[in-house]
Amino acid sequence: MSIPAPSPAQIRAAAAGLVAGVAADGRSLDDLLAGDPDQGAARGLKRSLAYGTLRWHFRLDAILGGLADRPPDQLPPRLRALLEVGLYQLCSGETAPHAAVAETVNAARELGFGRAAGFVNAVLRRFQREREALLATIDADPALRTAHPRWFVEALRREHGAAADAILEANNAHPPMWLRVNRRRWDLAGATAALEASGAQVYRHPLAPDALRIEPPCDVRTLPGFAEGRVSVQDAAAQLSVELLRPQAGERILDACAAPGGKACHVLERVDGPCELVALDVSEPRLERVRESLARLGLTADLRVGDAGEPGAWWDGRPYDRILLDVPCSATGVIRRHPDIKLLRRARDIPALARRQARLLAAAWGVLAPGGTLLYTSCSVLREENAAVVGQFLAAMPGARDETPRLTAGWPGRAAGSGPGYAVLPGEADMDGFYFACLQKAA
Ligand SMILES: C[S@@+](CC[C@H](N)C(=O)[O-])C[C@H]1O[C@@H](n2cnc3c(N)ncnc32)[C@H](O)[C@@H]1O
Repeated sequence: MSIPAPSPAQIRAAAAGLVAGVAADGRSLDDLLAGDPDQGAARGLKRSLAYGTLRWHFRLDAILGGLADRPPDQLPPRLRALLEVGLYQLCSGETAPHAAVAETVNAARELGFGRAAGFVNAVLRRFQREREALLATIDADPALRTAHPRWFVEALRREHGAAADAILEANNAHPPMWLRVNRRRWDLAGATAALEASGAQVYRHPLAPDALRIEPPCDVRTLPGFAEGRVSVQDAAAQLSVELLRPQAGERILDACAAPGGKACHVLERVDGPCELVALDVSEPRLERVRESLARLGLTADLRVGDAGEPGAWWDGRPYDRILLDVPCSATGVIRRHPDIKLLRRARDIPALARRQARLLAAAWGVLAPGGTLLYTSCSVLREENAAVVGQFLAAMPGARDETPRLTAGWPGRAAGSGPGYAVLPGEADMDGFYFACLQKAA
């Protein structure tokens, strides 16, 4: 028996449930969407409403504050989220206004807020009437206009000066879909031809030689070559890691924070001959995703569950020639892909992350061979997690040098303030925000 497709009101109610799951319960959208049973158009609409509402949450909440008779934080979380979903539809213009209002009111009933249906209707209609004046006031504040938490806007202005505005804009853009071609199974010309034959427009990247961007983005499972392990999805910035690490055949390589495995698999795809790659991660369930990707791509690695900060528990005592340390971080460089980060990350998280990153760097250095290379990477745009961590480490560690290369003259990465390494800012050369520091150990 086939399950009937959800109604428009049910889709909006489900989107509100996702938004409240992030905003009120502090859960990640990926986590909430894991095992999503919805298919087809309903799935697409639900996701686009949830992503869009979260992307604009701080602005929508300010709008709501100007319309409702009580502050948003005094509303039940799912009603507040539903009102934001309704306002998002009216602001984005992707749904006819009368349908946006009517279906949001119906969704209130779906969520058990039948008695608030009149209130929902009144708030959305008032927005239609007062939109211009309300938005003029709200949009005078850059944090509200670009829908970012104030602490983050201030940190960007402090660290990136005039570039902060471009980062804020880029964070609200729809992210491109970058593929990584598995060089062991396909070449770029073959991949391009197959993708174009499937109806996609295909573009190359000036710095990431295995990267292809496709338009329009699609469900990865429908991509030609995906099931056969010929392509994976990975942002072009992440793909630069292999260009900087420069792994060689015959080497012992450690990926110290490996899951879900994108960079570890890329290393194995690129090494020209056998090598020994240890893929370590503290999370066993996440390591399972590395196992799945290796199997799909026809690659092998030595998978280990362990804390990279405590090598005594997992290290066999043989040093590594190259180490990739892709640290757990605030993920503030990938907000365009994960808008829930705007709500989930707090200013107070950053010093704690920086201490954790410093601990991992010091421990990883201890298992690096003399003459070896350690590539420190993060998808944060904050100096405190990047150049500050690496700079303090270099200052305290004799025999450690910053040798981060410029990949080409066109390399968009910039010196990360006064410190070591290079940063790519979100949107630059169509990439996610990323930080790289290539550290060399004296022989
Ligand atoms: C940024 S992600 C790594 C992404 C991965 N390199 C890739 O390209 O797919 C950070 C990873 O570090 C892991 N992690 C966090 N703390 C760790 C620790 N103390 N030791 C090892 N792994 C850790 C997390 O479980 C997470 O999978």
